[in-house]
Amino acid sequence: QDPQTLQGRHVVVSAGGTREPLDPVRFLGNRSSGKQGYALAQVAASRGARVTLISANSALPVPSGVDVVEVETALDLQDAVRDASADHADVVVMAAAVADFRPRDYLEAKIKKSHDPGEEHSAPTIELVRNPDILAGLVADRGAAPSPLIVGFAAETGDASGDVLSHARAKLARKGCDLLVANEVGRDVTFGKDDTLVHLLRPDTDEARTVGPASKVSVAGAVWDEVAHLLRDRT
Ligand code: C5P
Repeated sequence: QDPQTLQGRHVVVSAGGTREPLDPVRFLGNRSSGKQGYALAQVAASRGARVTLISANSALPVPSGVDVVEVETALDLQDAVRDASADHADVVVMAAAVADFRPRDYLEAKIKKSHDPGEEHSAPTIELVRNPDILAGLVADRGAAPSPLIVGFAAETGDASGDVLSHARAKLARKGCDLLVANEVGRDVTFGKDDTLVHLLRPDTDEARTVGPASKVSVAGAVWDEVAHLLRDRT
């Protein structure tokens, strides 16, 4: 059997970036384009998987053979990921950039600036609340029954307190997922770009596999190679 095949597997990929609405016309968002998640979906479909792509606000065309669920907010994304993973998913890949915070209140009417004398410089204060960590929630919900393999992403920059790999290793331990794809950022790669440099980390080994700088499609291929290998080891 082809060691790279995903034939007969149901894979769930989240992609893009969530938007957290403030009022009918405004939101808090991020710069994620969805390119890495879409590349993962496309490559998984080409390897024979049934693919559910949970897409948050991406403008990219849906790869052929992929089922897409469109979402806007982190809470929508959480519901969609849970539903898809309950549908006999073999693996869930969290490539989406999920907002850590959302505005506490959604205002039904557009927020307006005051024209009252003396209030020309006044501005509203926006209070934020935490969003759930969807990835950590998937790990926490794992029961005795067969549960999907869980893959996380991390965007890491090296700094004085440690290198990219040690930050990524700590994140892998904190999140408890089966594979962490650590994107090295700040070297003119990653956000919205076509090329990326990643390290693939697993909890059972100190060795990391480094891929790139390479296209997001090549990185997707390397991620699925690793996943196919982990899935074979489980069965
Ligand atoms: O903690 P950090 O945001 O760096 O972790 C990134 C990983 O966690 C990504 O896989 C992302 O999809 C996921 N995540 C999540 N829910 C959040 C924040 C991040 O699932 N609220």
